[in-house]
Amino acid sequence: MRIGRWFSSPPAPPPPPQERNDNRKNEGAAVAEYWTQYNVTAHERFASAADSLAYLRWRNDQYFGYSELMPVHSQDGKVVLDFGCGPGHDLVGFATSSKPARLIGVDVSPSSLAQARERLALHPCLCEIIQLDANSTKLPFDDASIDYIHSSGVLHHLPDLLPFVREFRRILKPNGTARIIPKFCASGGWCSSWSAT
Ligand SMILES: C[S@@+](CC[C@H](N)C(=O)[O-])C[C@H]1O[C@@H](n2cnc3c(N)ncnc32)[C@H](O)[C@@H]1O
Repeated sequence: MRIGRWFSSPPAPPPPPQERNDNRKNEGAAVAEYWTQYNVTAHERFASAADSLAYLRWRNDQYFGYSELMPVHSQDGKVVLDFGCGPGHDLVGFATSSKPARLIGVDVSPSSLAQARERLALHPCLCEIIQLDANSTKLPFDDASIDYIHSSGVLHHLPDLLPFVREFRRILKPNGTARIIPKFCASGGWCSSWSAT
């Protein structure tokens, strides 16, 4: 018999700012504030690496085909960026299924980043966690410095998508890859996924 911890879906938070009819001024700050109050783990804390991995497996199982669409393996020796990493689900995946040369998580939510740091400390890896300015579209990376951009459930929260896509293109190495799933669907599936090199 497997004795383990059971997880259930966190209670649904209210709609994020861009799904309400809020004033678009300061929308970046409103998005950051929202994701600081709410997050995808409902601020779950993990007592052990096993606990953290069990939660990751449970979360991946919630979305049909997620692990295949957004793989975290085969990034040995690469510079990997998780854009909008939240509390660190997929960073844990990359840290445990690949051996990246650099693993970087960026987000605008200080509370989620604090939880990502705490969770990653349970796993044997080096991971850089960087807080972005919610009102800036610039990413703090050199041109052609990233091999792989992974972004899950983030792009539809951006007030303006195009500047970020341009930044992805700027920071990706010439043969780099971006794998992006913009939005979770209520059905437990995905609205779309994009992959580009
Ligand atoms: C639905 S959560 C997804 C979190 C994580 N990718 C996952 O799959 O568990 C959306 C995340 O996007 C982040 N986000 C929103 N606007 C952002 C921005 N301008 N730059 C980076 N991250 C942003 C939020 O803070 C939040 O952590």
